[in-house]
Amino acid sequence: MIVGAQWGDEGKGKIVDLLAQRADVVCRYNGGPNAGHTIVADGETYKLRHMPSGILWGKECVIGAGCVVDPPVFVEELDDLEGRGIPTTRVHLSSNAHVIMPWHVVIDRAGERRLGKLRIGTTKRGIGPTYADKALRLGIRVQDLLDPKILRQKLEVALAEKNVWLEAVYGAAPLELEELAARYEQHAQRLRPFIADTSLLVDRALRDRRSVLFEGAHGTLLDLDHGTYPFVTSSSTLAGGAASGIGIGPTRIDDVIGVAKAYVTRVGEGPFPSEIEGPAQQRMRELGGEFGTVTGRDRRCGWLDLVALRYAVRLNGITSLALTKLDVLSAFAEIPVCVRYLLPDGSETEEFPAHQSDFHHCRPVYETLPGWEEPLDDELPPAARAYVDRVERELDVAVSLVGTGAERERVVALS
Ligand code: IMP
Repeated sequence: MIVGAQWGDEGKGKIVDLLAQRADVVCRYNGGPNAGHTIVADGETYKLRHMPSGILWGKECVIGAGCVVDPPVFVEELDDLEGRGIPTTRVHLSSNAHVIMPWHVVIDRAGERRLGKLRIGTTKRGIGPTYADKALRLGIRVQDLLDPKILRQKLEVALAEKNVWLEAVYGAAPLELEELAARYEQHAQRLRPFIADTSLLVDRALRDRRSVLFEGAHGTLLDLDHGTYPFVTSSSTLAGGAASGIGIGPTRIDDVIGVAKAYVTRVGEGPFPSEIEGPAQQRMRELGGEFGTVTGRDRRCGWLDLVALRYAVRLNGITSLALTKLDVLSAFAEIPVCVRYLLPDGSETEEFPAHQSDFHHCRPVYETLPGWEEPLDDELPPAARAYVDRVERELDVAVSLVGTGAERERVVALS
């Protein structure tokens, strides 16, 4: 199980890609096209949206019931991969996954506009409204696409309500039933061969002692229940979410690898204690290429936050860490690391605040570690090794992998 230990964009794609080589099945269990994995393989850059990274290794790939799927985006991704010679016949999409419909995207965009300064900074892919309809039991599921009669019925029920909202609340154009039904029936034809009972498929793979890799999307602090609410995504991003999102028991997960950048980034709004002040932030952004895969937005950059990372270790039961993009820190002579938060009442804590006001108003307490100021290779220079050791000591978790560059092979395994 691989999970993002920060606010997403930790470089999970690369670690999953690496471990997928040895897996038989690679599964996504949450989120949708708001996630974006960038993988550089053999000089080609792949930007994956719905697909598990195992697709590039020809592995069996599962998109579980906890995911939401945007059919035109999914089809475009299939076409792109197939056009580049990557076979897609081993992709399996859960019939229980929910479908992102055009009104979800309109409502996501319009809702953010209405929130103004209080906006969440979503990826505007319709994620929140789709999960909201799922919880309201108004959603359209992948299996509904398979039967034109059921699809039409569901669209009719949904549009009766959504069109009122679109017109009266959001001032948007209503959607037309016939046009929509025809369009989604066409998508259904393309999706049909991929639709499967993915819970059963994964269970059988595990029973057959095949190796299954679960790839979490987004990151721990974007989890709907335990993240920095309301500046979160609308799914379960934690390791525990894999069990419900795929439809297997939690006892089936053996190891949880947390992926964290050697610093921190965040896209969208919300508190960020270790956000870098001054021009060093832009420097870090450029060095790390910190621009969103999905939206192209600038990512906010900060120094490594051990308080938040400790929280991630707790929430996910992380058994080892992969520390990515350590090479980006090679440019800095001194590297601050946030070791505690100073709370508004003057006390200091190593634990993530349970109350949002404390988190919103805390100040980072830094310790400055010496930089190494040289490019990283397989043998880490002593100061880089000390940086990694410090993370291990603070969190009481081994760092098993260190990322030293964008290419597939730029990963150092530590013993
Ligand atoms: P949504 O998932 O589009 O609803 O966006 C909610 C919040 O999660 C926003 O702050 C997004 O920027 C953030 N977010 C969602 N997915 C990702 C991701 O994969 N990486 C980083 N941030 C994300």
